[in-house]
Amino acid sequence: MWFDPRTVCFEEDPYPLYRRLRDEFPVYRWQDGERSLWILSRYDDVNEALGDWRTFSSVDSMSDRRPAPGARGAADGHQLITSDPPHHDDLRRVVREYFSPKAIQPLEGKIEREVGLRLPGLRSRETIDVAGDFAWPMTLAIISDIIGIPEEDRSDVLSWYQTAEYSEAADRSAQALSSYTDYFDQLGSERLARPRDDLISHLMKAVARADVSRPDALLLCKDLFEGGVDVPANLIANAVLALADHPHQRAYLADGDLARVRVGIEELARFDSPIQSIPRVTSDSIRRRGVVIPRGAIVLLMLGAANRDERRFADPDALDVSRPATRNVAFGAGVHFCIGAPLARLQARVALPELFAAIPDYEVVAPVERPRSEVMRALLNLELAVPAGKARVGVSSR
Ligand code: HEM
Repeated sequence: MWFDPRTVCFEEDPYPLYRRLRDEFPVYRWQDGERSLWILSRYDDVNEALGDWRTFSSVDSMSDRRPAPGARGAADGHQLITSDPPHHDDLRRVVREYFSPKAIQPLEGKIEREVGLRLPGLRSRETIDVAGDFAWPMTLAIISDIIGIPEEDRSDVLSWYQTAEYSEAADRSAQALSSYTDYFDQLGSERLARPRDDLISHLMKAVARADVSRPDALLLCKDLFEGGVDVPANLIANAVLALADHPHQRAYLADGDLARVRVGIEELARFDSPIQSIPRVTSDSIRRRGVVIPRGAIVLLMLGAANRDERRFADPDALDVSRPATRNVAFGAGVHFCIGAPLARLQARVALPELFAAIPDYEVVAPVERPRSEVMRALLNLELAVPAGKARVGVSSR
């Protein structure tokens, strides 16, 4: 099997496979036993499908997978990412004020402090795990503050989530999933009894007013936790890895010029997108590029392939942080466009210049190992070696 959607996300270099898909099989049917998927890989096809929720529904789009941690209990509730309008919009309305650019901007100082906290260790260390000791703890702190997860619980919650999502041992994963789900359930009950000024209390008040069901509210909370910790950490770690061989581009970003950094983040999200694919289900039979996809088919929209489509991006396999921004689909499009995009962009805008200013020179310590995932191009660890005498701390011209 030359193309396997179950393993492509953690290939060292999936991009030649995607090129072949786009060129030779733009509508590709993949089958293994009972499991059958249709794969779209060209930018125009992916973008069009993202924008057409009536034909490409999100309901039951993940029915062929092991449930994601947030989806446990989904039998009783609806997830944002597996709902269509109007229910999707009702759910999203409950939390959107927490993630608007206006709500996010005041977090900049907090993000700077979190980033700064994790850089001083570099002075005395030759190596740093820029995923496990920098990106993940930073995103964990920020999303936990928003949701209202107490500091003393955060490392447990993260460890349950990572085990449930990425462990290959089914029993460990199931156990972690159970602890993770129970935790949010208990936190919800606590905040229902004693509300605070945080997102989970806000959700529980909405439950008390019957604006949203309790299962829906808890699923929403878990989705936001996962989106908020995992994806931005991978955006940052993938960016650091992609820039390992591009010292001039790092220096360009370290300069901290806001307009430059904004454009650079979009290019880094395009180049090695954390979310590589998004599933949908066809609500009708459709014809694309001469191929008929039947009603009820699961269609994988390959964001990672679309973002490297030469029909859309000139010289797409070249990383160029000064490339004039042309909209890509790293954050999705249409009604499910990432609710956390303003926050994720702000985190990356703060973290990357600070990091490159603090460590202008680094080498990636091989081998780089990605955890197994059908969706996420993830890095739980990314060990960098700082050449002796090269570390600088807290230097930023931002
Ligand atoms: C603060 C960080 C983040 C949070 C809280 C977050 C949360 C979410 C949530 C809740 C959704 C579902 C929205 C809906 O269905 O209406 C979503 C969608 C999405 N997010 Fe994020 N996210 C974050 C960061 C990121 C990053 C860094 C990327 C990639 C660069 C990303 C890519 C996406 C994509 C592709 C979708 C669309 C899913 C679909 O179409 O079904 N997210 N995000």
